[in-house]
Amino acid sequence: MRVAVVGATGLVGTKMLQVLAERNFPVSELIPVASAKSVGKEVEFKGTKYKVIGMEEAIAAKPNVALFSAGGSTSTEWAPKFAAAGITVVDNSSAWRMDPKVPLVVPEINADVLTSNDKIIANPNCSTIQMVVALAPLHKAYKAQRIVVSTYQSVTGTGVKAVSQLRGERQKEVAGSEEGYEMAYKYPIDLNVIPQIDVFLDNGYTKEEMKMVNETKKIMRDDSIRVTATTVRIPVMGGHSEAVNIEFEKDFDLAEVRHLLETAPGVVVTDDLPNQHYPMPMDAHEKDEVFVGRIRRDESQPNTLNLWVVSDNLRKGAATNAVQVAEYLAANNLI
Ligand SMILES: NC(=O)c1ccc[n+]([C@@H]2O[C@H](COP(=O)([O-])OP(=O)(O)OC[C@H]3O[C@@H](n4cnc5c(N)ncnc54)[C@H](OP(=O)(O)O)[C@@H]3O)[C@@H](O)[C@H]2O)c1
Repeated sequence: MRVAVVGATGLVGTKMLQVLAERNFPVSELIPVASAKSVGKEVEFKGTKYKVIGMEEAIAAKPNVALFSAGGSTSTEWAPKFAAAGITVVDNSSAWRMDPKVPLVVPEINADVLTSNDKIIANPNCSTIQMVVALAPLHKAYKAQRIVVSTYQSVTGTGVKAVSQLRGERQKEVAGSEEGYEMAYKYPIDLNVIPQIDVFLDNGYTKEEMKMVNETKKIMRDDSIRVTATTVRIPVMGGHSEAVNIEFEKDFDLAEVRHLLETAPGVVVTDDLPNQHYPMPMDAHEKDEVFVGRIRRDESQPNTLNLWVVSDNLRKGAATNAVQVAEYLAANNLI
């Protein structure tokens, strides 16, 4: 299968190359693509070096599938051109997620919506993916009515520039380095917490917060779930964490909740209080699963559960989910 990775020099694109190799996706030809400034640079896949090409050339190479992670404006402009050439696009940006004609897919939950007519398929936002993977089995059993989520998101969620900012600030503090670095955020991120991810909207929420609200309903195919989110950037290098409070229609038994999560696809329960074991980003690093712990009843109101949910945002939050979508398409002869 001919596979294009669009944004192959970025954080998500690099992870996609790694995940495609690890999962042994049947790549007969790899087509790495990035912006004009990177054309001619090399990326490595399974020990071989490949030259990065531009967008036009990538379309001409006629890949079966193109995994896009090159930002919203690139996807808005180029995904329809790839699709018109018969290439199936799996897009990591937010450009197409809420388009009613575009499926928004987390394979463990709703891969069944995919058909061979879908030429643009959207990968949800990283913070949404990890929350819905944990939510899905519980929603099925008890019907979620309202979710209150607060996130603790790593700098890798912003891209290479943010990683440089955190590294630069850390070197300055630790080693007094005077080396310059570009600011990805308006404020320092090391030794700080920034309660803004993406731009502010008219309702006072950030775009990231409203992504969690709207994408959750679309993936769960249930507009009645009420969601409110506060999304926060913290000085962690990789892995997003979330405190999730879910009010259900039906009451639940905690042992059964634990069992449902333990047997849910893509979920690992790490919840051993006597030994102080709970999910942390440093343990989720380079793992594909969503880790759930601190499972407890919200004692302030009926039928309500608290969870702590952690996942590697570059993997299940981006690259792994996109590759899983491609695997589903290939396994079902949809590409
Ligand atoms: N980081 C995450 O956890 C995460 C999770 C889910 C989704 N996403 C989404 O994935 C996308 C990429 O994120 P990232 O963190 O990997 O960012 P990044 O590290 O900044 O990488 C951006 C990539 O896009 C390429 N690119 C930029 N403009 C382009 C253009 N006009 N034509 C072709 N390629 C272009 C860049 O190529 P050059 O090197 O040539 O500039 C680079 O390969 C974003 O849409 C982001 O919202 C990220």
